Amino acid sequence: MHLPHDYVLESAFTPKGDASHGSLIPTAAWYRKTFALPASDKGKALWLDFDGAYRDSKVYLNGTLLGEHPCGYTPFRYDISQAAHYGERNVLAVQVSPQHEEGWWYEGGGIYRHVWLNVADPVHVAPWGTFVTTKMPEPGPDGTAGPATVTVKTTVDYLSFPIGNARVTILNGNPNFALLTRVVDPAGKVVGTATANFQAGQPQVTQQIVVARPALWSVETPQRYTLHTEIQQGGRVVDATDTPFGIRTIRFDAEKGFFLNGKPVKIKGTCNHQDFAGVGVAMPDSLLYWRVKKLKEMGSNAYRMSHNPPTTELLDACDRLGMLVMDENRHLGDTESGKASQETPYADLHEVRSMVLRDRNHPSIIMWSMCNEEGIQGTPHGRDIFAAMKTVVDQADGTRPVTCAMNGGYDSALGITSVEDLQGINYNPGAYDGFHRAHPTMPLYGSETASQVSTRGVYSWDKFSSDRHEYTGVPAKGYVSAYDVNAPPWAQTAEAAWQPIADRPFVAGGYVWTGFDYKGEPTPFGWPDINSNFGVMDQCGFPKDSYYYYQSVWGDKPVVHVLPHWNWAGKEGQPVDVWAYSNAARVELFLNGTSLGAKDMPRNGHLAWSVLYASGTLEARGFDAAGKVMATDKVETTGAPAGLRLTTDRTALAADGEDLTMVEVDVVDAQGRIVPTADNLVTFEVTGAGRVAGVGNGDPSDHGPDKAFYRHAFNGKCLVIVGAGERPGGISLTAVASGLKGAGLSMKAGK
Ligand code: GAL
Repeated sequence: MHLPHDYVLESAFTPKGDASHGSLIPTAAWYRKTFALPASDKGKALWLDFDGAYRDSKVYLNGTLLGEHPCGYTPFRYDISQAAHYGERNVLAVQVSPQHEEGWWYEGGGIYRHVWLNVADPVHVAPWGTFVTTKMPEPGPDGTAGPATVTVKTTVDYLSFPIGNARVTILNGNPNFALLTRVVDPAGKVVGTATANFQAGQPQVTQQIVVARPALWSVETPQRYTLHTEIQQGGRVVDATDTPFGIRTIRFDAEKGFFLNGKPVKIKGTCNHQDFAGVGVAMPDSLLYWRVKKLKEMGSNAYRMSHNPPTTELLDACDRLGMLVMDENRHLGDTESGKASQETPYADLHEVRSMVLRDRNHPSIIMWSMCNEEGIQGTPHGRDIFAAMKTVVDQADGTRPVTCAMNGGYDSALGITSVEDLQGINYNPGAYDGFHRAHPTMPLYGSETASQVSTRGVYSWDKFSSDRHEYTGVPAKGYVSAYDVNAPPWAQTAEAAWQPIADRPFVAGGYVWTGFDYKGEPTPFGWPDINSNFGVMDQCGFPKDSYYYYQSVWGDKPVVHVLPHWNWAGKEGQPVDVWAYSNAARVELFLNGTSLGAKDMPRNGHLAWSVLYASGTLEARGFDAAGKVMATDKVETTGAPAGLRLTTDRTALAADGEDLTMVEVDVVDAQGRIVPTADNLVTFEVTGAGRVAGVGNGDPSDHGPDKAFYRHAFNGKCLVIVGAGERPGGISLTAVASGLKGAGLSMKAGK
């Protein structure tokens, strides 16, 4: 099989499974891989990097236990120089036991991130051993930046073996080395170099390079530099690494919020877990990138890695696309080495250190979060643990504020608030003003906001009692309305969560719970609902209506969005609530060409009309302040399903066995309009150099398998993920549904 891999996703959904974990039952599993190593590798440094395996893993090479790693979210590494068989076959065996949970959401199971075999000269740049920081005066209002001083600390590793009581360092000759460091600008030009000589055994080399007129990393223009590092021995290059980095300044101001490169930037963020339709937690790099791109299109500029360190490729995507990151640790704790008990097996300080050492060169990261909603957050015990963790973070980085997400305890003088750099408040916007008054020098942001629930394309609650705040009985489907009003008492509407942040410059911004639906936490219902309803987009990345709320208040594109759909046969003459989201000054609504009135658009809000239903076209026109139409949107009563339509943003894939593309499948009427209530069963076939990598439809209660060749449409849409194989060639996808005109799409996989 190919990594990344999540085998728990392949089991059947059952009410016997834990609902918060996606109603699937995890079991232990073994992975085994055979590989050859050339005899010439003997005497080199060899190590395995596991970017993440869920969880409680044990790794054996040729029958030797290399180690155990309890945490499913942190990377781990094993030196295999001694256990390896050179010039022979090697057998790697990995056991994972995902039965014990670390969180309260779907966590998957398996080797769900990359694994790397590294072979290097005995003297090499240590893994995570390059640390790049940049210093420059904050750019002024004209945006002129520089000069920037780039400081590079390079840690060097020396392969050594224990012989008797001593360790013998393997040198391969001459003990004199040179470290050559080049700064390569975003256009690929070398703009600075430094050379330093060092002797075998020296652990670290520090160099400085000045970049006179730096191209800055920002949300709009995320320009990246590359640091090229070479170790030379007698003029021969023995090791080389590339480290992408960015040049930017960040600052949190207790009165004015967050500043990037001297300019105020409101944090318009979403929190996200790491699973997706069709693939579970095994997210290929291109899907991670695609999701960040989707969030950017919505107008979002920030991403909270809730509640665990992400895979490196997600941070790369945020670097490339200009997404500000709150990087988050999984466990609050101050043990340095793991204990053998199942309750507290984690080496907490080691874990948080590994997150920071691995991630500190990413320009996208603007804050380190130690934990989320911990019971001891307001106590001296919580404070002391946090302080120990913060010391580790400051030693390993020291260029970003250390924070956490608190849902209480921030009014205590003895809790975490007294030692952190930056206050995150989960929900409770009513606390912002009081906190700011009590802590006038402490910057503040909404670490988690909204928890608005909605199901895409559904406009009523499933089995909800009349006061709309308590539900009764077992829901038939577990759907919740997409109108942003029906929040249970513990949740907020999107508007109620964003307005208090938008109105207060001292609140640096907020992170909505969540950008995408995820498996597990089927709030507010339970079975048959198996995934969350919190997403602004569903599990397939299809926008819900609230997507357009965020796009209109966060983004800079002209937006008008009208809801609901307009297929209400049988409701003729009855009132339908019609809403519009827009960033226009005024919106006018038309039913079949007749104006139903224009209204001024409230800031950060929505407009509502009660419209007596008649089939046809409902159109909303947005006007700017000068009265010019700036955007329009319409919903139309469609005919019956007549055909399928396939759409994707990428048809050229890399033939690497991992790349994939998300294909939206729409059920359309004879005029090509999406039928918003269609639930036809669609069957897929992929021929040529590809495969179906997974399917989904965003229905929170569909128990169909994610790994399948078929899927029902849900409210007019489903998703098929097409993956490339390892050989180049054409890929052809066909989709058919009984009684409908089928559709096809050609793609190709290339080297
Ligand atoms: C928060 C928690 C999240 C999620 C959310 C659901 O309190 O931090 O992980 O459970 O509630 O509303």
